[in-house]
Amino acid sequence: MSEISIENVTFSYTEDEVIIDGVNLKIESGDFVCVLGQSGCGKSTLLRLIAGLRKPQKGRILFDGKEREETAPDLGVVFQDYSLFPWFSAGYNIVLAMKQKYPEKSKKELKSIVLDYFEEVGLDKQVYNKYPFELSGGMRQRCAICRSLALNNSVLLMDEPFGALDAVTRARLQDITMDLWKKEKDKTVVFITHDVDEAILLANKIVVLGLKPSRVIYQYEFRDKKALSRSEIVTDQETMKIRSNLLSVLNMDIEQRITQGDFKESSLLSNNQL
Ligand SMILES: Nc1ncnc2c1ncn2[C@@H]1O[C@H](COP(=O)(O)OP(=O)(O)OP(=O)(O)O)[C@@H](O)[C@H]1O
Ligand SMILES: [Mg+2]
Repeated sequence: MSEISIENVTFSYTEDEVIIDGVNLKIESGDFVCVLGQSGCGKSTLLRLIAGLRKPQKGRILFDGKEREETAPDLGVVFQDYSLFPWFSAGYNIVLAMKQKYPEKSKKELKSIVLDYFEEVGLDKQVYNKYPFELSGGMRQRCAICRSLALNNSVLLMDEPFGALDAVTRARLQDITMDLWKKEKDKTVVFITHDVDEAILLANKIVVLGLKPSRVIYQYEFRDKKALSRSEIVTDQETMKIRSNLLSVLNMDIEQRITQGDFKESSLLSNNQL
């Protein structure tokens, strides 16, 4: 089980600005949830709250019905800045994290697992001994993804994990992530992206956060999602409709702010209403 209940969560970094305002979200065990929203609306903040790096001022986040203090959720995170220790090599960064989860495995065994993942994500073996500053953004991003794949946590939180990758590598990693999610039946993924098509391809639930102070302004759940290829997605009726809904929600959110100066709650859209 790896269910997450976000209940009426409100959060501010400082006293003068509310970032997240009463967010409610039910993430079932085995969900692949994609979160969309304009830059700065609080997507990474929401992920930090789920990861337990920040505490909400109001509301609560439950894991399988329990408060964080009562349980130790098995969470893995791929942060937007890749979070590799700069003073360790790329490979050792991953081995270090794995050693905590698999203390019985030798360093040699762990290295061999890491190199297998490197191959899967298209990283050269030589990257293992390089320091993060010697790698491109896309290489660092792939190292962070390898680390999260190797740790195989039951909840995976990913913050724009494929943002710095070229189209081919991105497609490959989308496929790897999907395969992993399908293989592990109860694996729950919360995945932030700016890419509507990526969300449609990967998610069984799509959530849009509105502008700050942000809350959920749109949710869509694919009840019985067909396994569609990338080319089928752009011709399938349901996905075409969702795509157009998502784009209009995202655009409407900005336009309302610009033209009316404020956000009208009555215009909130939710639960497949469009
Ligand atoms: N540590 C911090 N202290 C104060 N304010 C912060 C901090 N981190 C983020 N913020 C503010 O919180 C708001 C939301 O930031 P967040 O990083 O969650 O946005 P985001 O939706 O992930 O944006 P992006 O799509 O650009 O990554 C922004 O206004 C940002 O300036
Ligand atoms: Mg962010």
